[in-house]
Amino acid sequence: MLQNLQQLPADPILGLVAACRADRNPNKVDLTVGIYMDDQGVCPVFEAVKQAQRTLEAEEVTKAYLPAVGDENFNFGIQRLTLGEASAALADDRVCSIQTPGGCGALRIGAEIIYAAAPNARVWLSDPTWPVHIPLLGSVGLEFQAYRYYDPETHGVNFDGMVQDLKKAVAGDVVLLQGCCHNPCGADLSLSEWGVIADMAEQQGFTPFIDFAYQGLGDGLEQDAAGLRLLVARLPEVIIAASCSKNLGLYRERTGATIVVCRDAANARAITSQAQVAARRIYSMPPAHGALLAGRILTSDHLGGIWRAELKLVCQRINNLRSDLREVLELRCGGDYSFIEREKGMFSFLGLSAQQTRRLRQDFGVYMLDSSRINVAGVNARNIDYLAESVSKVI
Ligand code: LMR
Repeated sequence: MLQNLQQLPADPILGLVAACRADRNPNKVDLTVGIYMDDQGVCPVFEAVKQAQRTLEAEEVTKAYLPAVGDENFNFGIQRLTLGEASAALADDRVCSIQTPGGCGALRIGAEIIYAAAPNARVWLSDPTWPVHIPLLGSVGLEFQAYRYYDPETHGVNFDGMVQDLKKAVAGDVVLLQGCCHNPCGADLSLSEWGVIADMAEQQGFTPFIDFAYQGLGDGLEQDAAGLRLLVARLPEVIIAASCSKNLGLYRERTGATIVVCRDAANARAITSQAQVAARRIYSMPPAHGALLAGRILTSDHLGGIWRAELKLVCQRINNLRSDLREVLELRCGGDYSFIEREKGMFSFLGLSAQQTRRLRQDFGVYMLDSSRINVAGVNARNIDYLAESVSKVI
């Protein structure tokens, strides 16, 4: 039965991670997967996470299953982190959430809820989008439409194109938006543009589904949530896929949440039951470790304070790297790289062709996606000159 199975091509992101790991070039530069790396090229464990881990280990008395909705403390903390302490939706008791295996699990449970409510819903995806959105949501049975988003000429958002395309989204459709630090392009909406999207959702009746994987890595925890909170303040229903992979550095612990802002408390209870049944169908209950740590950090003034200070440094380092990279690229390659400084979060398109990115890999051991998406956080003092010099040789 199984012998007919063909070997599939490697994942466009994880395949390159593996190829880079296997490369023996001592100068290799890994700008592939979106993980934060410090100046030593290490993806560090946050001090707040280490402290939470020590107390968890001392206090933990069981490894019994978590409930399908996950850890109560975690759900409490992640709702407030995402929506803000002063959220009216929270005060009105019309928010529910379920802890999920990472941001991917959160997207999948969100898609399951959408499919249960409206199996014919069309999901509007930005062009470009994170490539995994398509199998994650598509395998549930949802159909897609694309809306224009990134303009390679200006290296910014083509907001007029986006609005024109989203005029065709109707009630019963879902528009997938990235809350901040757009993956893959790094170009974000301004707050006034979020306001226009809110007007359109109000008038046309579509439902926003916000992929929120990078809160705190753009301008800061509160600033990065401003667009999302604007939609939540104005609309009856918003679905959010939150992740603690990047902002708490809990990547391998698979810690995320589907948060749904509902019309009222009764609807929130119904959606919780739908999410629980969907989770039971797929993986039963979420992994505990990361969420128990995140729950402790998000609900403790002491640990939360340590974490917020650490995250601020991470955010500052990324933004400093953006300025440094702009400067070094302009020096070595000529041209205008100011867009790198304007973008937010981990990613940027360098504007190279797939052929140029392949040459960078083969001839220089510089690894970025074929689309020329780089993880800015993979740049450091030791590789920045080599990176810019290599780029100058392929353009
Ligand atoms: C990325 O885009 O590199 C990250 O979101 C990690 C992943 O799973 O692809």
